[in-house]
Amino acid sequence: MSDAVQARLDALRTRLDHHNHRYHVLDAPEVADAEYDALFDELLALEKEHPELIVPDSPSQRVGARPLAEFAAVTHEVAMLSLEKTAAPAELRDWANRCRTRLNDESLAFCCEPKIDGVAVALVYEDGRLALAATRGDGRTGEDITANVRTIPAVPLRLRGDGIPARFEVRGEIYIAKRDFAAFNERARERGERTLVNPRNGAAGSLRQLDPKITASRPLTIYCYSLGWVEGGWRPQTQTEALERMAAWGLRTNPEAGLAADLDACQAYIDDIACRREALAYDIDGVVVKVNALDQQQRLGAMTRKPRWAVAYKYPAQEAATRVLGVEFQVGRTGAITPVAKLEPVFVGGVTVSNATLHNMDEVARLGLRIGDRVMVRRAGDVIPQVVSVILEQSAIELPESCPACGSPVVRPEGEAVARCSAAPTRCPAQRKEGLRHFASRLAMDIEGLGEKLIDQLVENDLALAPADLYRLEAERLSELPRMGGKSAQNLLDAMQASKTTTLARFIYALGIREVGEATAQSLANHFGDLEHLRTATPEVLEAVPDVGPIVAERIAAYFGHPDNAKVVDELLAVGITWPAIEAVADSLPLAGQTWVLTGSLEQMPRSEAKRRLTDLGAKVAGSVSGKTAQVVAGPGAGSKLAKAEQLEVPVMDEAEFMDFLETQNAR
Ligand code: IVH
Repeated sequence: MSDAVQARLDALRTRLDHHNHRYHVLDAPEVADAEYDALFDELLALEKEHPELIVPDSPSQRVGARPLAEFAAVTHEVAMLSLEKTAAPAELRDWANRCRTRLNDESLAFCCEPKIDGVAVALVYEDGRLALAATRGDGRTGEDITANVRTIPAVPLRLRGDGIPARFEVRGEIYIAKRDFAAFNERARERGERTLVNPRNGAAGSLRQLDPKITASRPLTIYCYSLGWVEGGWRPQTQTEALERMAAWGLRTNPEAGLAADLDACQAYIDDIACRREALAYDIDGVVVKVNALDQQQRLGAMTRKPRWAVAYKYPAQEAATRVLGVEFQVGRTGAITPVAKLEPVFVGGVTVSNATLHNMDEVARLGLRIGDRVMVRRAGDVIPQVVSVILEQSAIELPESCPACGSPVVRPEGEAVARCSAAPTRCPAQRKEGLRHFASRLAMDIEGLGEKLIDQLVENDLALAPADLYRLEAERLSELPRMGGKSAQNLLDAMQASKTTTLARFIYALGIREVGEATAQSLANHFGDLEHLRTATPEVLEAVPDVGPIVAERIAAYFGHPDNAKVVDELLAVGITWPAIEAVADSLPLAGQTWVLTGSLEQMPRSEAKRRLTDLGAKVAGSVSGKTAQVVAGPGAGSKLAKAEQLEVPVMDEAEFMDFLETQNAR
């Protein structure tokens, strides 16, 4: 019984393999589809009854593998190289001459093949069975796409015929034929599914599916074009012989491939294929010319990425990228209105194209085309140029490695969101400009008339490298700047002079120390009373200042510790920046150590002013009331904070009392 079942299974599989080969490899079916389907159904039924007799290379086992999580890496035993390109008869002749010279003038024959525009794969057969399929990847390492390639009917799961080497690798191009591509897209359009952009992308995308069922639904096929390596048994002598043997084993090879006895025959082949390019069933981008004798190939050897023994003769591209400038509507003989894209002129398919048909409004909608889009345009032979697809202009945004203003390395400390130029502020023009802007700004040194444009000019003319340079500007030099008359130059110098007398808080703020805003500058001034104490303070000492936490303390100490910054400060003092002495150092300020809370609205002064007055007196102003709050100032409309203060028995004063309090402090 079991023997009979096995025999029937064998017979069915052999017949199905045969018909599959006739249909998908030879393009010459012998039976109607229904007959093939009947055999296939019988096989499925029998295998269902006897699952223990299922083998991996049964025709039923092409699909069925579960989706992968990722593709495994495959190292190619022999690197998959790319090809040197030629595009003119003279270049081809130069290549052939170089080959002949290297081979001491031996005569050469060539094998010419269409260069299919698809995806390169390597298939490993072991004992005649497909064991591995891999992408080219970077040429050394590719991806294991065996499960996907098994679904391609033109790829035999087991080979036929004699003399099959024990292990060998076949290389070929997986592609989608033009008609299959058109039919697939037609059906996808009918069903409202996504269409493939072009046959090449379609093939590549189909092979990159993690679910082999999706690959199986795509009309992929293959042409095998060479043997990568061979272990055990027979070896070919020539490329044409390799093609013949591969075909005899059931692998699909291109019938257009052929021997060219000399260079003239190669050129004739190239010209012939060029004429027939449109009529071929698949997209090509040229012809591959290979030295036919494999021992000559071996002696010619390879450069790093390209063999010396083969060359690609490229035809003009049939697709190119350009931009849609507008759309015009043409009225035909029957009144039909056709949208035509007006393009930025582009060289494609051998001519310059500046119009392309959009067929109809359904096609415009399908493409999702908008005026101004970048598009791929295709012109093949005499066919009217077409817009094939819209190029989605999405590219990842990457942080530059070097500062766009000065070229210094960009750094982004771990855990920080902000990336920065690593140059010192005085050494990067952008930082310098921004630093000077900050220095001159209203809340800092308040230099009237020193605006952005002027600062740009000063930096660009190397008139101001550091803040102190501003105070060394001369009227004569200034008035040479565009839009700067003698009068405005003098006004500016007067404003500079006036700014020299400032406050310690403003001066600290003007330095532009990171994390030191106006309020912190004020606290620092209050606390230290003079610059020398601040400059020499350690982070621990700085942390004692209200509002200064460990990070800010580190920053301040680091700023003053840097020699570039020390120089900036010294120079500013040297040009005569001064401020009235602050007698009251932190601890002796009247409100030192106290936390105040402002709530409700104040009518006599803005809340920010009230806050500043309090901090000037040494208080810390907090947003919420706690047991540690020393005093609450409650204006009209005070709500929960006032209630909380009452509950915690924190002293509360109203605005009038607060104004009186400030007055008494002023009088001190
Ligand atoms: S032979 C050493 N023959 O073209 C390289 N390649 O640039 C030998 N291609 O992606 C390649 N048709 O997959 C060869 N008949 C053909 C080809 C062909 C297409 C592709 C190949 C690779 C590229 C090489």
